[in-house]
This record gives sequence, C-alpha cells and structure tokens, in this order.
Amino acid sequence: MGTISIGADDRVFVLTGAGISAESGLPTFRAEDGLWAGNRVEDVCTPEALRNNPWRVWEFYSARRAAGAKAEPNPAHFALAELEAQLGDRYFLCTQNVDDLHERAGSTRLVHMHGELNKARCERECGRPPVEDRAIYRSLDEVGHCACGGRMRPHIVFFGEIPLEMGRIEAEIDKATLMVVVGTSGSVYPAANFVHWARQRGARTVYVGPEAPLNASAFTHVVKGNAGEVLPGLFAVTR
Ligand SMILES: NC(=O)c1ccc[n+]([C@@H]2O[C@H](COP(=O)([O-])OP(=O)(O)OC[C@H]3O[C@@H](n4cnc5c(N)ncnc54)[C@H](O)[C@@H]3O)[C@@H](O)[C@H]2O)c1
Ligand SMILES: [Zn+2]
Repeated sequence: MGTISIGADDRVFVLTGAGISAESGLPTFRAEDGLWAGNRVEDVCTPEALRNNPWRVWEFYSARRAAGAKAEPNPAHFALAELEAQLGDRYFLCTQNVDDLHERAGSTRLVHMHGELNKARCERECGRPPVEDRAIYRSLDEVGHCACGGRMRPHIVFFGEIPLEMGRIEAEIDKATLMVVVGTSGSVYPAANFVHWARQRGARTVYVGPEAPLNASAFTHVVKGNAGEVLPGLFAVTR
C-alpha cells in the first residue's frame, strides 16, 4: 500500500462520506438497496417529505440523533484530526456526514456541506441562524417554533436542496494539491464532482474505501480497505 507523501508546498483537501462513520456503527446510506437505516430516502430526506409528513422526518432524524450520540469516533476520524494538527491551515475537511464524529475526534477546520444532525433551523428560512438541538422527539408537538412562528426543521440538506458553504469549498479545492476522498460512493452531486475539479487543477487525488466508487476513474490512486485500518499511517508529512 505504501504511504502518501505530503510536502511543505502541499495543501490537502479531504472529502468524507458515510463510509468513514461505518466503523463507528453508523449505517451508510446505500448499505442495502438504497435504504438508510430501513427508510426510503424519499420518505424522510426531501422537502416534499417535510411538507407532507413533518413528523415522519423528525422521527427519522430523532433516531439518527440517538444513534449518533451513542457512536464514538473511530481511528479514521482520529487520523484526519492528527493530519490537521500537522498541517494547520494547509488542511481543509469537507464532510457529507451530518454526525459530529470529526469534531469529537478533534477536527476544527471543517464544513458540513449536508448539514448537522445536532442543529435545527426555521422551516420558513426567515434568516435566523441554525440553533443547537440535540433533542430526541417523541411527537411533533414537542418540536419548537422560531420567533417568526415557523416550525423548526432539522438542519439537514435534503435531496433537491443546495449544499452549504459551496463558495468556501470551491475556493479550497482551487488551492489544493492533494485531494483525499474517504468512504463515499460518488453518487451524490455536487460532491461526486469535487475530484474532477481537483484533477483539472492538477492535484493528486486519492480514494480510500473497501470498494471502488462510481467516479473511480478520476482518482490517481485508489487505496482499498476500511478507513479505520487504512488512514492511520497512510500519510507521511515532510517539510
Ligand atoms: N453518518 C452520517 O452522517 C451519514 C450516514 C449515512 C448517510 N449520510 C448522508 O447520505 C449521503 C450518502 O452519500 P455517501 O457517499 O456519503 O454514502 P453512501 O452510503 O452512498 O456510500 C458509502 C460508501 O462508504 C464505503 N464504505 C463502507 N464502509 C467503509 C469503511 N469502513 N471505510 C471506508 N469506506 C467505507 C462504501 O463502499 C460506499 O462507497 C451523504 O450525503 C450523507 O449526507 C450521512
Ligand atoms: Zn423563522
């Protein structure tokens, strides 16, 4: 397998997906036939679902919160936090995950492009910022309201909605000389395009995961294996 050398002039952009949290016991999205923890995505993860059956959506995300609170970061999350500690502002992490396992492993330079499980925001998009919300609701009556009167919704980017922080993400990809992608199937856009953007700018691109992603041909290296086994010891930082 060898190691990936990171020199003094390198800037590293990391993209993670559900696979990095698999060894922490959180199910990936496409583990079985497009079901996520036994649910069809259309029923729990779209603007239509929120409109037509907000309790079904909140019930699903309450269960995800309960599972997330029990999970612990695994060696892959810790290996990336360690890489950040070595590289400082030459490191940037973009996660598609809504869990907080990267933060709990010590990562600070990160964005959650698909939102955060432990936050809620106004469903009317009235402009008030998301608030922390770790509650595990048992009925829709328990879900709070914004000062404007709108009901709170999970701070999650549903299918059909625009990912968060895209300007900052694109600027970081522009600067990167090495892109490392971990545990994502390459089927959700625009994240699946990041590797193409990095390649166009001449960056090295590395994928880590047990199976080749759909966009495998865009990577200069594919390292087969579980993230928690591969990432510790994968990087050799030189100066
Ligand atoms: N933990 C979470 O926050 C979580 C969990 C499930 C889904 N999601 C959401 O669902 C969407 C799904 O896209 P996705 O591409 O992230 O997930 P995905 O389920 O489509 O793909 C998961 C990928 O992880 C790989 N994988 C499985 N075990 C692994 C391991 N031990 N180490 C490394 N890789 C492993 C699989 O081969 C697969 O390619 C995302 O947008 C995300 O927001 C989030
Ligand atoms: Zn509001």
